[in-house]
Amino acid sequence: MSAGSSAVRLKKELASLAETTERLSRLSRRSYQNPYSAVEWPATARPEDEWFSSPEYLSLYGTPEWEKLDDPGRKRLAFYEAVNFYSLNIHGEKGLMEGLAARLYRKDLLEISEYLHHFLDEENKHSIYFGGFCTRYAKVYRSRQLPVAEKPPREVDDLLFFVKTMVFEEIVDDYNWVQSRDPRLERIARFINHNHHFEESRHLIFGRQLVTALWRAYSPGWSAETQEDVRAYLEQFFIMTWREYYNPDVYVDAGFQDAWELAESAWSLPAQREHRRAVSAKCVEFLRGIGLLLKEPSDAF
Ligand SMILES: [Fe+2]
Ligand SMILES: [Fe+2]
Repeated sequence: MSAGSSAVRLKKELASLAETTERLSRLSRRSYQNPYSAVEWPATARPEDEWFSSPEYLSLYGTPEWEKLDDPGRKRLAFYEAVNFYSLNIHGEKGLMEGLAARLYRKDLLEISEYLHHFLDEENKHSIYFGGFCTRYAKVYRSRQLPVAEKPPREVDDLLFFVKTMVFEEIVDDYNWVQSRDPRLERIARFINHNHHFEESRHLIFGRQLVTALWRAYSPGWSAETQEDVRAYLEQFFIMTWREYYNPDVYVDAGFQDAWELAESAWSLPAQREHRRAVSAKCVEFLRGIGLLLKEPSDAF
């Protein structure tokens, strides 16, 4: 199939998104935030006295090391895992903002430009909250994600950018949703999770619709090999995304020796694999439903 027909299909697909993007833009304008006045930061954080993450969502939950920790030790781990969660959001949002900015006012994506402005604006504000916490009370952890070696052709690049964004945001959102409702969590940690979940609900709707539109517009023109490459890359992305939740730097700060071995054994623990599968389930089901994935990305679980 020619590039011309994929451009025609894209136009038609994006036209069907118009009502959604108008509604989402209206909602974004209505809940427009000032991240400098929306939150009162406490002077200090008390990592060993309060919960900053839900214990059941920690990367070491269920391991023998977790069982051996006393209460302050568990809370300390939960604090550094919160810092890691916020850090991986900062790194994810940095790449996201770059990709959104690069696509603003691109001729073939003009229909969604207005909403891309909101998306970009909101991600910047999210990073101000995440960064506000990390720099006040701890630090921003480094990212171990490797940059993509070679930029794929534009259609593949666009699809991958938005589907990666969707997967990343859907996993994060499950953590946000659970932690925003956890009464054990310290006030600021709960606020950050709640606020992010509230804002992201719009991005998730947009993400699913746009990924569907791009897949429908582009994939009929792709060779079987290209489709297979996209699927393989996406399966790898699930692994890379989840790996960031098992950060050896966190284990060092939480007081563990052999941080790398611990990251490996936690990653392989059946209860942790089940946790990753359960958190990813809705997103995987969606991707299989539209035919983007043909099977579960089981190496990530
Ligand atoms: Fe965000
Ligand atoms: Fe988002």
